[in-house]
Amino acid sequence: MDIENDVVKAVMEDLYGVLPRQGPGSPACTRRAFSLLGALPERPLVLDVGCGTGAQTMELVRLTPGHIVALDVFDWALDRLSEQVVAQGLAGRVHTTKQSMAEMDFREETFDLVWSEGALYIMGFENALKTCRRLLKPGGCLAASELCWLTDDAPQEARDFFAAEYPEMKTVEDNAQLFSDCGYELLGHFTEPACAWWDDYYTPIRKLLPALRTKYAGVPDALALFDACDAEMAVHEKHSSSYGYEFFVARRPLH
Ligand SMILES: C[S@@+](CC[C@H](N)C(=O)[O-])C[C@H]1O[C@@H](n2cnc3c(N)ncnc32)[C@H](O)[C@@H]1O
Repeated sequence: MDIENDVVKAVMEDLYGVLPRQGPGSPACTRRAFSLLGALPERPLVLDVGCGTGAQTMELVRLTPGHIVALDVFDWALDRLSEQVVAQGLAGRVHTTKQSMAEMDFREETFDLVWSEGALYIMGFENALKTCRRLLKPGGCLAASELCWLTDDAPQEARDFFAAEYPEMKTVEDNAQLFSDCGYELLGHFTEPACAWWDDYYTPIRKLLPALRTKYAGVPDALALFDACDAEMAVHEKHSSSYGYEFFVARRPLH
């Protein structure tokens, strides 16, 4: 799928732009991960990578009195976040920036906290851990959710699906080791519950798809995207015990 194609962009906005969030997660998971951080500076500078329409950004701004830089590549996502920020009088504390995570132009050791829900895989999780470590001040923290295998013996159907969709997917244990290998101290991690997949993500997608299939009936790229959503949800309904989003919270050591 060519996300630079205007039709594809319009379809993505019509689908993902309307959802409460653009991937699995929940306010409760954001709060739980935040509780694992330990002490932060009084007004931390936070980077939210792949913020989407800002579900977790708006939670983070309630959890900390600091400043948040929210980064994404899509105007429609950043515009929705900006609307909420302005409506809630938070324009002085949340700054949106349109940048690719692969080409972030921040100075090294800028942030007290880097946050990313369901997005770091886009630049390769290992590469992302290394990049985020450089952006963190010594002693700063990274909180990131990542799709992981929860078992070593997933059913063949699930393995086949992710061999095509996310061949680099690792087990929770291998990702925990990766944090250590990339120079972090892991502070904790947990698996997001089923409601984090359904309440604000799959259930609203299911409700939207019939009308979108009608609207885009003659647009093969759109129909392929909707088919892919249905296939992903079908695999999840059968095999959700084999894989999940793991929320990792880690610190860049002081030395
Ligand atoms: C799975 S969604 C997660 C969004 C949000 N964090 C959430 O949990 O609702 C991944 C996000 O990464 C953004 N994205 C995709 N490619 C990107 C890139 N190269 N740089 C920055 N963000 C990107 C997408 O626009 C999308 O908002």
